[in-house]
Amino acid sequence: MSENTGTETVFESGDNDGPVEVVGHAAAVAPKDAKPILEVDQLRMHFPVKSPGLFRRTVGHVQAVDGISFQVAEASSLGLVGESGCGKSTTGRLITRLYDPTSGQIRFEGKDIAKAHPRELKPLRRDIQMIFQDPYTSLNPRHTVGAIIGAPLLIHKLLPRNKVLGRVQELLEIVGLNPEHYNRYPHEFSGGQRQRIGIARALTLHPKLLVADEPVSALDVSIQAQVINLLQDIQNEFGVAFLFIAHDLAVVRHFCPEIAVMYLGKIVEIGDRESIYENAHHPYTQALLSAVPDVRQAATGERRDRIRLQGDVPSPINPPSGCRFRTRCPIAQEICAKHEPPLLQIGRQHKVACHFPGRIGEAPREPLTAGLLGVDAEGRPDPGASPSTDLVEQPGYADTWFDLDNKSIGRA
Ligand SMILES: Nc1ncnc2c1ncn2[C@@H]1O[C@H](COP(=O)(O)OP(=O)(O)O)[C@@H](O)[C@H]1O
Ligand code: SF4
Ligand SMILES: [Mg+2]
Repeated sequence: MSENTGTETVFESGDNDGPVEVVGHAAAVAPKDAKPILEVDQLRMHFPVKSPGLFRRTVGHVQAVDGISFQVAEASSLGLVGESGCGKSTTGRLITRLYDPTSGQIRFEGKDIAKAHPRELKPLRRDIQMIFQDPYTSLNPRHTVGAIIGAPLLIHKLLPRNKVLGRVQELLEIVGLNPEHYNRYPHEFSGGQRQRIGIARALTLHPKLLVADEPVSALDVSIQAQVINLLQDIQNEFGVAFLFIAHDLAVVRHFCPEIAVMYLGKIVEIGDRESIYENAHHPYTQALLSAVPDVRQAATGERRDRIRLQGDVPSPINPPSGCRFRTRCPIAQEICAKHEPPLLQIGRQHKVACHFPGRIGEAPREPLTAGLLGVDAEGRPDPGASPSTDLVEQPGYADTWFDLDNKSIGRA
């Protein structure tokens, strides 16, 4: 998505030539009053970094995911977006419990599964499935598609052996492949078809939540839209919820009524589609949006060019103090190095983590968070201030929020 020029990263619209055009499907809307199926609360994954040699001591940690909170509603989709290395796949692997989290909660249907014992994970493996980015490496080349799609049914002993083929053929039909092709091998299919096989495999056990980790990034732009349409059809038909991971805001726009933007292990902005695409208040979201041609105008105004961020993404082993985005932020000030901005709710379904939240060119002159943090405009402790005790990030949205105009918490 980004072309690194050494000193400056120019955001481009994906690895492909243009935006993903999803035709024939209305943009997905969030189901009304849907309950959360997944609540991620202060989730952390710090991978230990070991010293070389015989006595491998832990010399640091990769802070791949560092205290993120969000929720996914039943039968809805949350898009998780950010540059490569910001912690998206780690988040997906934590939710599917391929990793043990360092801390935090993962509540699935109300039950915390973050520390679940392997025995308890077996039923969970049916309910939460993953679709991977690369349809070339995620399918075993030595197995027929029938064996690949049918394997979970046999492992979980859900169907007698003589019924498996019928179910495999039904699944092939659902994902738009010829049911008679169950005896073929993955290499006999195109990239888009292989991803359809990966989707059929993920659907075998009737999951309630699908974690799709960049499911279309490896596909041609013309095929991307077809696969996204298929996922949307599957959601409409089976009511499955999605965590849809992408490095590009164009890909998730149509499919996800809610989007979270990640940077270096943190969520920097999260909100409904309108808040993110038409009213982004974080400089990083604005930079990502400026790379999406068809929404650039709405996000940046007609005359503005693409936003160019300085420098490289810092290491998650030793992230910048305060706001992790400050080393590349075009509007950073002193307070940004001293204090991490809280992820503050600024609208009914909109949260942003920035001391100076605002539309492009409309960022406030004074840090809006200073009073809440009990510091002055430069980030020095302010003895007269009373810091807010209510800044802990929680999944979902509260009924009251920080009103940017009145600079206080209350219903807008
Ligand atoms: N198993 C691991 N051990 C150590 N570091 C890891 C591991 N997996 C990922 N990381 C690091 O964590 C950070 C986030 O990686 P990842 O979640 O794959 O990001 P993304 O999917 O957004 O590209 C990266 O710096 C990556 O190098
Ligand atoms: S807190 Fe400061 S450095 Fe971080 S995004 Fe906002 S202005 Fe930029
Ligand atoms: Mg990834």
